[in-house]
Amino acid sequence: MKKMKIVVISLGGSIIVPGEIQIKFLKAFKEFILRFLKKDYKFIVVTGGGSVARNYINAASKFSKIPDEDKDWLGIHATRINAHLLRTIFKKEAYPVVLDNPLKKIDGKQYKLFIASGWRPGWSTDYCAVLIADRFKADKVINASNIDYVYDKDISKYKDANPIKEITWNKYRKLIGTKWKPGMKSPIDPIAAKMASKLKMTMVVVKGTDLKNLENALLDKKFTGTVIHP
Ligand code: UTP
Repeated sequence: MKKMKIVVISLGGSIIVPGEIQIKFLKAFKEFILRFLKKDYKFIVVTGGGSVARNYINAASKFSKIPDEDKDWLGIHATRINAHLLRTIFKKEAYPVVLDNPLKKIDGKQYKLFIASGWRPGWSTDYCAVLIADRFKADKVINASNIDYVYDKDISKYKDANPIKEITWNKYRKLIGTKWKPGMKSPIDPIAAKMASKLKMTMVVVKGTDLKNLENALLDKKFTGTVIHP
């Protein structure tokens, strides 16, 4: 028998619900996952919060100055509603309970698909994806968000930012800094990067809406994106 390939996909809220829920994308993503479930693949999909997180944090901020921890909790609940959406979309295939704590022991041996959400304040779902990848002994960890590469500067501010195809965690961490801020836009958040570095994990950053490219990354073929490694 072939060895099962275990893959963690951190599915950015920015591609699940950048504004409206991306039904067309989610249909294609479902087909994509189902196709690989028929092969020797096991997936853990961690969902981000997207515009739901942002809208709720913005709304609360109109009333008073909100502590970061409360902003994070709003974000966490947004990741949970998106995780429940995915769990429902994959009702037949997925482990029936959203993994809302990446460390909690579960008995899901017969399942090949798990959906996970955010956990606690102080980081993003990137960190949950790293903890889950370690726990499930994942063969591959893919961060599928709305950016095609890690850049050497913030691409939304600097038009001359250059894409990086490969970078070590040390260099990556120098690039993004060490401090966490709710709703932070770095490709992999600093807390997740610190843990991934400690665990000597390799992570791939790709634009998740391009499923052909995601497939190439999954199959170790040539792909567009960034590899971050020890
Ligand atoms: P994410 O940052 O993971 O979702 O969580 P996103 O912004 O939609 O993902 P990308 O950018 O597309 O990849 C949204 C917010 O939820 C809170 C944080 O405030 C985060 O910015 N959160 C999430 C936590 O506080 N803890 C968690 O474990 C997860």
